[in-house]
This record gives sequence, C-alpha cells and structure tokens, in this order.
Amino acid sequence: MNLLKLPLIGCLMLAAGAVCSQTPAKVYHEGYRPQVHFSPKAKWTNDPNGLVFYKGTYHLFFQHYPDDIVWGPMHWGHAVSTDLIHWKQMPIALYPDKLGYIFSGSVVVDENNTSGFGKNGQTPLVAIFTHHDPEGEKSGSNTFQNESLAYSLDAGQTWTKYAANPVLKNPGIKDFRDPKVFWYAPQHKWVMSLATKDRITFYSSKNLKNWTKESEFGKTVGAHGGVWECPDLISLQLNGKQYWVLLVSINPGGENGGSATQYFVGEFNGHTFTPVSTNTKWIDYGPDDYAGVTWSNTGNRKIFLGWMSNWIYANQVPTKTWRNAMTIPRELSLKQVGSDIFLTGTPVKELGRIASKSLRINPATAKLPAQYTLKFDVTKINDYSLEFSNDAGEKLIIGYDRQKSRYYIDRSRSGEIAFNKEFVNMAYAPRLSASSTSTVELVMDASSVELFADGGLTIMTGIFFPSKTYTHLKVVSNQADIKNMVLTPLSSIW
Ligand code: FRU
Repeated sequence: MNLLKLPLIGCLMLAAGAVCSQTPAKVYHEGYRPQVHFSPKAKWTNDPNGLVFYKGTYHLFFQHYPDDIVWGPMHWGHAVSTDLIHWKQMPIALYPDKLGYIFSGSVVVDENNTSGFGKNGQTPLVAIFTHHDPEGEKSGSNTFQNESLAYSLDAGQTWTKYAANPVLKNPGIKDFRDPKVFWYAPQHKWVMSLATKDRITFYSSKNLKNWTKESEFGKTVGAHGGVWECPDLISLQLNGKQYWVLLVSINPGGENGGSATQYFVGEFNGHTFTPVSTNTKWIDYGPDDYAGVTWSNTGNRKIFLGWMSNWIYANQVPTKTWRNAMTIPRELSLKQVGSDIFLTGTPVKELGRIASKSLRINPATAKLPAQYTLKFDVTKINDYSLEFSNDAGEKLIIGYDRQKSRYYIDRSRSGEIAFNKEFVNMAYAPRLSASSTSTVELVMDASSVELFADGGLTIMTGIFFPSKTYTHLKVVSNQADIKNMVLTPLSSIW
C-alpha cells in the first residue's frame, strides 16, 4: 500500500463538504472547474437572470442556492464583467422573503424613470422577477407564482424590493413565471414576455408597476413536450428588414431529451407576436444549454447566455464545491436558408481577449492544452469524427454523419458518467446549412464543449467529466476533407 496516498483516499471517502486532511484545491481551480466560463465561486446555480449592460458593466444575476450544491430556496446571485469573459462575483443581490423564493426574471434600465423609483435625477435599474411561494405550492394553490419588482439606485450594486409587491398577480395559472421585459419605443411602453404554462403571454405597462394583458402565443405552435419557461423577445435585422425572435425554453421536451430552448422568428406590433414560419427550431441542439436569454441595453447587438446544464442531471453532476456553469456568451444574428430564417450564434468576439497565439496543428502529433478554441474547414463534406482522449482511455467524440446530415456528440466513454443513466445518450443536431463546404469552431473547456457549425447555424453544447484533460486528438475521416485546423489556447479567466 502506498502510504503517501492515504490522506487522499481518506479524503475521497468522506461525503462532500466533510473536513478532509488534504489542502482543498484552490477556488476556481478544482477538478472539472470551467476555466473560460462563468460558474459560481461555490454552491448551486441554474438560470442566468437580469442580464443588463449599464455604464460599461455587464451584469449577470443567476439563480443561486448559496447553502448547498443542489437546487433549493432561490436567491439572485450576482457577478459583473467589463468584457463578458472575466467575471467577478458580488454579494447576493436578492434574498428569498415572505413572498417566496426569487425565481427567474430580467433587469431593465429605466432611463426615463417611468417607475418613479429614481430620486433626484437618478436612473433606476429595475428587476422584474417571479416570487415563488413554496408554502402556497405545497398547499395545492394555483397562484403561488407572482411577478415582483426590485430596484437599484447605485448601478446594480444593491437592491431594494418594491414595498407593494407583487405587481402582477397570478390569475390562476400554476406556471406563471420568468418575466423578460424590454422598452417598446414605438408605443412608449414596456413589454413583458411571461411563461404561462404552455404558451407565452405578453403584457404591457407604462410604469413597470401596472400591467395589462396584450395577447398569448404558442398554445398550438412549437414543441410542447414540457412546460414553457424563460421567454425572451428580441429584435434583429436581416437584409434591412426588422424581425422579432421569441426564445422559449422547454423542460422536458428538448430534441435530445430534457431541457432545451426553441425559438420562433416572426413579427411583433406591440400587441401580438406572429411567426413567419412555425417549424420548430432550437437555439442549441446539444443537451446542455437551457434557460438562455439576452442582455438588455446593448443596442442592436444581441448577446445570449445560457445555463450549461440539463434538469435531467443538473443536481447530480460530479462536482463537489459548486454545481453548474453558463455557456460562452454568444452573439445572435439571423440568416436566410432557402425560404426559411434561422438564428445563428457565435462566441462573442471578446473571447479573443484570452486567446494566445493560434497554431496550425497536425492532430496526430498535437498535445492539446486545457482550454482552447479549435477551428477547421470542411472543403469536401462527408463523414468525420474527432476523438478527444486522455491517458486514462476516456474519450469524447464529436462528428458528422453525412447520410443523416447531422452532427453528433458521443460522451458515453467521456469519463465519469454513472451519476445518471440518461447522461450518456447520444446527442444529434441537424445540419441546416445548404452550403457545399462547412466551417466548425469548438470552444473546449475543462468540462464542456460548444460546437458552432456552419457559422453558428447549428450549435451543440455538451458537458463531460473526464478524470484528466483530453490531451490527444484523433481525426477519423471518411473522404471528408478537413483543412486548416487551427488551435488557439485560451488563458484561464480566474
Ligand atoms: C428554469 C426555471 C425557471 C424558474 C427557475 C427556478 O430552469 O425552472 O422557470 O424560474 O428555473 O429556479
């Protein structure tokens, strides 16, 4: 027996959180800890909330349970960044109170002080969120989710809840949550998209306090394998024409099982949303991008952030001190393919701030670093796969199947997989591009990969838990011409 190993073994046998004689790994550098993605310093997170840009700072609030690494009484955690890449965690912004837990919602910059929360010319930031009353839920009531306000007069640092909460009372719909609000300038009013069970309900308000129902969308359109959550209605231009895109998360009922986010491209007139096509489309076909929404107050630039997990196993993934992370922030655009219009997403250009020198690599001899982007062109499209492996024999396989015209992620041998049997399911994504050539960009971190294919028309995000970094790459190609493989190491954001 190797005596030197004893303390380590003793440490592993103890339950998470127990005292152990080993020096704990430095915060943000524990095993599996993402190095280029936001994750909370400690404990649980799910949805990103209250994304707002104000005075040079990007705010990221997040569903947070600061006492455990499983979901529990929800708070709004808070982090800030000046570049969308480096994050500094701040004190908790919103605590549960007598009206309940603080569920998902949004933050707006109330430039004209329509809410009256600003005093002496101050601009209030206003948070609109769901109060979820766990007691009401237990008692069998249907009205335990209501919309409430909080405001900040110090640019988002500290928050005061509105004394007359809630401002939008539940009319008797069990799932009544996740308000996302924006200023609709043509009609000088705020518009709220709210998830109401199996549809989105739009409300409007002049002051953020009194809300009027405008319309409903979606009862008979889109995917309905689970409850609708976390909507976001954004405006984007394509060829000089303005479109509105409605993001709707759904759980379960995603294409690859569990949680996923669908979207609808359409028109919005301040009252109703009308889709231009009703084909179901997904913002990310991978298993691990949920509840994503965009930053407010960023002008025409639409920047999306998702929660990089899936409700099937989010409470069980094998991390010890924290659980779950966010995706790389992505810039959204529209693209016409044939007669249909799709969203594309690509990593924000700010990711370049942590890029080291790019290297043309030969996969057979390259030794992969811990976190990086990998780009390549496919000049002749056919089957191919990329196997990322480590010295422990674990591998993650990402590939393309020409006959089925789909990308895939296989994590069945990727490392620790036993925490949930559905974790190993294959994930597939259709190729949507009609082009005869293809480009692929991967963002690889300690425990996640994001695939942006064909300029971000097809996206897949997947998490994994290898015992060691995947340092080897094997490209298996069946007559596919893979060219210009360029690896760019990324430095840690922590
Ligand atoms: C989505 C969600 C939201 C809800 C929050 C609770 O993941 O279920 O609908 O507000 O998480 O934490």
